[in-house]
Amino acid sequence: MKRLTIAIDGPAGAGKSTVARIVAQRLAYTYIDSGAMYRAVTWAVSRQAIAVTDREAVIKAARSLNLALTYRDGKTQVLVDGEDVSESIRTPEISRQVSEVAKIGGVREAMVRLQRQLASFGGVVMDGRDIGTHVLPDADIKIFLTASIKERARRRWQELSDKGYTVSLEDLTKDISCRDRVDCERDIAPLIQAADAVLIDTTALTIHQAVEQILRLCEERTSGLQNPS
Ligand code: DC
Repeated sequence: MKRLTIAIDGPAGAGKSTVARIVAQRLAYTYIDSGAMYRAVTWAVSRQAIAVTDREAVIKAARSLNLALTYRDGKTQVLVDGEDVSESIRTPEISRQVSEVAKIGGVREAMVRLQRQLASFGGVVMDGRDIGTHVLPDADIKIFLTASIKERARRRWQELSDKGYTVSLEDLTKDISCRDRVDCERDIAPLIQAADAVLIDTTALTIHQAVEQILRLCEERTSGLQNPS
């Protein structure tokens, strides 16, 4: 059976990574979290005390980043120079800075090159903001996953609270709206729904329901490829 390439885009907190990871598991595909790559660049930049406004230095750090993404115990493991940064790239501080780093053209070029290499063998679920529109425009299935801002902020609050962070829902709502704005309004590969993407609003859906919708689309697609009319 043809191994599909599945692109899942959408704003922060829509459930992309959870849904993408489960879809990949169910299909025995590789899951690629493209946001983790921009977060790893942001982490490296902060570790080297480079200001995110110093574009040249940030691009240099992105190009020379020794990044590896592996999958272990159902979780993506992100390694920079062999150091496991999977947790450190998800702190509120990195979340606040990452959109600024991700809008730099040279950073995006370096990451997109890597993302295309990783997807080149098919059998891949990749989530992000520009996967269906820019990174993998020929993806077999494109999903635009979204949810109301209130629900997305609530989910992020829950996620951070579970990890022991004390954050206010109000601040988180502001941070997420701010990231949405930067991601949607940037000049290069902004967050928009691809014309051929299927919209799934997860505000009132469980993870399981969203996963099942995507798996149904995959089934339709593969049976269409096997029985072309
Ligand atoms: O999905 P996430 O929250 O981990 O993404 C982190 C940031 O990276 C987010 O602000 C948008 C950016 N990003 C991007 O610009 N393009 C992608 N393909 C993935 C993420």
